[in-house]
Formats: sequence, C-alpha cells, structure tokens
Amino acid sequence: MTDSQLAVIILAAGQGTRMKSATPKLLHNLAGIPIVSHVLATARELDAAHTVVVVRHERDRLVEVVQDQLPAGLIVDQDEVPGTGRAVEQAVAALPANFAGDVLVVNGDVPLLDAGTLTGLIEEHRRDRTAATLLSAYLEDPTGYGRIVRDEHGGLDRIVEHRDATADELAIAEVNAGVYLFGLAELRDQLAALGTANSQGEKYLTDVIELLRRSGSTVAALPVTDPWLVAGINDRAQLSEAAGRLNGLIVRGWQLAGVSIIDPATTWIDLAASIENDVEILPGSQIRGATVIATGASIGPDTTLLDCEVGEGATVKRTDATLSVIGAFASVGPFAYLRPNTIIEEGGKVGTFVETKNSRIGAGSKVPHLSYIGDTTVGVGSNVGAGTITANYDGVNKHRTVVGDHVRTGSHNVFVAPVRIGNGAYTGAGTVVRKDVPAGSLAINVAPQRNLEGWVATNRPGSVAAQAADAALDAAAQETGD
Ligand code: UD1
Ligand code: CA
Repeated sequence: MTDSQLAVIILAAGQGTRMKSATPKLLHNLAGIPIVSHVLATARELDAAHTVVVVRHERDRLVEVVQDQLPAGLIVDQDEVPGTGRAVEQAVAALPANFAGDVLVVNGDVPLLDAGTLTGLIEEHRRDRTAATLLSAYLEDPTGYGRIVRDEHGGLDRIVEHRDATADELAIAEVNAGVYLFGLAELRDQLAALGTANSQGEKYLTDVIELLRRSGSTVAALPVTDPWLVAGINDRAQLSEAAGRLNGLIVRGWQLAGVSIIDPATTWIDLAASIENDVEILPGSQIRGATVIATGASIGPDTTLLDCEVGEGATVKRTDATLSVIGAFASVGPFAYLRPNTIIEEGGKVGTFVETKNSRIGAGSKVPHLSYIGDTTVGVGSNVGAGTITANYDGVNKHRTVVGDHVRTGSHNVFVAPVRIGNGAYTGAGTVVRKDVPAGSLAINVAPQRNLEGWVATNRPGSVAAQAADAALDAAAQETGD
C-alpha cells in the first residue's frame, strides 16, 4: 500500500569525478544493471507517494534509465549550485504543495542498501519523532566519508566531511551513510539556511544536521550492523569491492536454491539471471543479463552466457554465447562462439571451434568441428562436415543457406549462399556448393586428381623427399618381385 506520508529523493546529479570515466558514475555496471538502478529498485519497494530523482551531469542518459524503471518518478534538474544540499533543496521544491510528511533522502551511489533497512529507519524515525534520523556505519577504513560527531551524551551533534575534518575528527570510525529521513517542514527551513563555507564551496546536505541541532530539534544517527549495506561507490576500486560482495550473495543464494557452483570466486552471476536446481556451474563462468538455465544443465568451465536460454540437461563447455537458445540436451563447445540469434534445437550439437550467427540448428543436427555457420537453417538429424564455411556475405548483402533434414555434408565444404541442400542429400569432401542440391543427390564439384609420377625425382633430385620416394618405390618393386 502506498505510504502517503513518504516522499523519496534520490540524488543522482553528481559527476562522479573519482571514477575518471566518460560514463557517468551511476551508470557503471553492477551485477548487470547500472549502480543507480539498484537504488531505484529499492526505492520502488517502499511505495512512496512521491519519488524524486535529481539529475544534472549527463542528465539525458540518467533520465532514460529512471523513466524506464520508475515511470512515475519525478525528474528534477539541479542548477549550477553544487552540492547534495542544493540537490535536496530543489527536489523538495518540486514536491506537490499538498504533501506533508517525511522525506527520505538516499545518495544514488549506495547500491547495496535494501528496503528492509530503510523500513527500519522510517519506523524508528516515526516512533521517536525526531526532525532527522540518518543511517551511520562503523568502518575499519572511513577514508572519504563524512564523520559522525557525537556530543558528550553520545547523541548526534553534527557531520564533518572528510576534507573539512581535523585530525581528531578523522580518527572517528563512525561515518555518515548518505541515507537520511527528515520531517519535511524542518528540512525545508534548514535548507534555506545552508551556506557554502567549506573546502568544496558546495551546499552540503550534511550541514542540515548541525543547523537542526542549533534550532533545538532532535536528530539521531542509527548505526547499521552490516556496513556493506551502506557502502558508497566513488571509484572503481569501491565498485569492484561492492561487485564482489554482491556476487558472493547472489552465488550463495543460488547454491542454497540447489545450484552446484564449484568455485564462487570465479563465478559471476548477474542479478537478472535465473537458474533451476541441479544445474552445475564450473569455474570461470559468467552468467550474464537475463540468462535462464533449466535443470540438469552443465555450464563451464570458462563459459560466458549473455541473455541466453539453456534447456534441460544441456552441456555448454568453454563457450561464449550471446542472445542464443541452447535446446534441451544439446551440446555446445568446447571452444564455441554463439553470436546473436543462434538457436540449437533439442539434442543438437555445436562443437569445437565453431562460430554460429543468426542460424537454427534443428533437433539432433550436428556441426561438430571447425566451422562458420551464419544466416543458416539446418533441418533435423543432419550432420555438417568438419571445416564447413557458409559464405553468407557477397560483400554487399547477407544471404541464407538452407540445409534440409537428414543431410550429410562432406568435410571442408563451402556453401555459397543463397543456396539450398535438399532433404537426405550428400555432398563430397571439399565441395564448393554454388547451386541448389536436390533432395537425395550427391553433390561433387572437385576436379579429378592427377598424379604426375616421378615428378619429385625430376624436379627435386637428391632431396630427402626424393630419397624417401626412391626407397619406397624400390621396396614396392621387390615386393611385387620384379
Ligand atoms: C556524501 C556525504 C558524506 C557521506 C557519503 C556517504 C555530503 C556533503 N557528504 O559524500 O557525508 O559520508 O556521501 O556515501 O553529502 N549529488 C548530487 N548533486 C550534487 C552532488 C552530489 O545529486 O551536487 C549526488 C551524487 O550523484 C551522489 C550523491 O549525491 O549520488 C553523493 O555525492 P558524492 O559526491 O558521492 O558525496 P560523497 O563525497 O560520497
Ligand atoms: Ca559518494
């Protein structure tokens, strides 16, 4: 049920300078989705009356993600005045005039936060009727974070940013998590009073705490027990640490759901993936995007699947596959490369050093060795010979190859598309198939072989080849007795 007394503000306007990236910080990938999408998903669970997202840096790219995920979200463009305080000031101004309640402010770079922690914060705040309650955490290395300064009674006094802190303050291990709950009226009053007298010349949201205290309001800091929940992502080292932490949780979740994961340290699973029980995932595998894997399948080692569908009992070894469907009991790899829109039907095989693209391999059909199969349809029960290449591109357009049912093609063929090979047809080794092969025919177009006898003795006299040939010819002559 919608919490009519709650508005959520997500801060996403910062540049993320410490990332040193052309991609805005909040759009960097974490478990398959942008950092900010984790926060948006958590905010969504709260079902607040209003959700506001503040943007500025690369605003169009952020807005696209927000509108996709949170269509009812309100977008606010931060002006040229920098700082988290200014961002909240503008977000609050955008709330409907009739809204009166609590305002939850969440930094957009705190992706591991969960809705349960936020619900706990909201409950605590409403029970104690404080003007502001924020989440804090005790960190072994608090570098970069704002420090929680408590008074002699242990109450929250103010927050001092790392850059502005004294040596004594820097020694404080309790940090501001960047997650706050404010009463709207109190917040609005203090935002108007914010100054920019700090090392960055910004309006700091964190200064609201001291202002509230001085105006006689009560404020509180609520430490979380698991500091990971409030880990902020500022640079790529923190991003990889958070990714490792989240991946550990995801892997463990699937293990407890009945998936065998041999080596959690080298197995990466995106949030959107879905895996049935009794799937086995071998070391060095990445299950990315919205990949779905059915029961009994074996994946890896060293396999990457992006947005793929793997059927029951299929085997996929040392393979890279994108947007492909691997049917039940099919076998792929080792060393296969499935490019988008490859469909392998039940019991089909794409073997070693085979690349496929935009192709359907029918049930029970096999492409076992060293082939490129592009823009091709193979019927059922067919076998494509080793070293087959579909020549699908004439330099201007792509053309299709159609191979029928129960076809046997020879090794080292080229299928020059567009071309069709009828049901039950055969092709000889080394055939370049340029015209359609009717059902049941054998296609061969290789020139007859000529042996020029004695060529080596004449043209390479005295060479080791000539000596070897001479000896072989002598031996053969003795055997036949002349
Ligand atoms: C902030 C807090 C710090 C806290 C830390 C927790 C302030 C002044 N400091 O520091 O006390 O320990 O988070 O992770 O708030 N943003 C805007 N507009 C701006 C600037 C930032 O929307 O003008 C957004 C950013 O996109 C980001 C969030 O606010 O999502 C926090 O900004 P960031 O620069 O990362 O703040 P920190 O230095 O980490
Ligand atoms: Ca931050």
